[in-house]
Amino acid sequence: MSAPEIRAVGVVGLGAMGAGIAQLAIEAGYDVVGREVTADLGERARERIAHFLQRKVDKEQMTAGDREAALARLELTTELSALAGSDLVVEAIVEELDAKLVLFAELEGIVRPDAILATNTSALSVTEIASAVATPERVVGMHFFNPAPLMPLVEIVKAELSSDDAVDTAYAVGERLGKQPVRCHDTPGFVVNRVLIPLLNDCLRVLDEARVSPEDLDRAMTAGAGWPMGPCTLVDLVGIDVHVHASEALYEKLREPRMAPPPRIVAMRNAGLLGRKSGRGFYTYES
Ligand SMILES: NC(=O)c1ccc[n+]([C@@H]2O[C@H](COP(=O)([O-])OP(=O)(O)OC[C@H]3O[C@@H](n4cnc5c(N)ncnc54)[C@H](O)[C@@H]3O)[C@@H](O)[C@H]2O)c1
Repeated sequence: MSAPEIRAVGVVGLGAMGAGIAQLAIEAGYDVVGREVTADLGERARERIAHFLQRKVDKEQMTAGDREAALARLELTTELSALAGSDLVVEAIVEELDAKLVLFAELEGIVRPDAILATNTSALSVTEIASAVATPERVVGMHFFNPAPLMPLVEIVKAELSSDDAVDTAYAVGERLGKQPVRCHDTPGFVVNRVLIPLLNDCLRVLDEARVSPEDLDRAMTAGAGWPMGPCTLVDLVGIDVHVHASEALYEKLREPRMAPPPRIVAMRNAGLLGRKSGRGFYTYES
């Protein structure tokens, strides 16, 4: 299979990550169809994108005309069939294997046989997601970081059966989106999360072990280790639920105790303290 030239990009799931990926794609000149489960969620994503692009206009990083042109390239839908013309589909729905398997199987019946299917999963196996389709060679990981418009890295993940063409095409798209792509194989946590998740869990355990406050832990790691932001601030930004889920997934696969989420943040997740997106996590945020 040789990969198609990418002109039209589908994005499935326009939450924290998908909206950011859609924003990058329309800014890079791709025609984008974004699919959400309700029209209201889609509209909310469009409003967020319009807001962030307006900030770029205000900072003179973009002209008002370019903003309008970019927004005009974004089509919203609740119907997966509207992605039929996509050369590349980036999936950014909830981090649940079953939901992704169902989606990829549906997508296969909709997009052209040579269209590339990418998942933005953080901690699931791209190979396992690819097993939902009869043509797994076109499935790759494109793992963006949060917030996608600002974080320079995208991990381009080669699953067991990904073709080199699909990987190279995803890499080229990553570059056109203005990112610094790195290639890696499909191992738990890929590169950054394999290192960062146990490290963050160590930090969170120190909250209780050293009886240090979140503010002081953040200060310690920024002032003492040169981190650009403290671990509590970072986990709040990532989402407590996303971090717990990623930790559990890594622990399940690697069985290293450091991968397991500390009970404190499991309790926070259970209480709905999800960080920035819910208004409360280690810190409280104004909406
Ligand atoms: N948040 C992060 O820091 C981060 C970073 C990198 C990767 N990821 C990964 O990106 C993916 C999305 O994470 P997120 O933080 O954006 O989650 P999110 O909860 O903010 O957004 C997920 C969105 O997907 C929508 N959705 C669910 N099922 C759908 C379907 N079948 N079709 C269309 N839309 C659907 C939901 O309505 C929701 O708006 C996950 O796989 C996650 O692991 C997250």
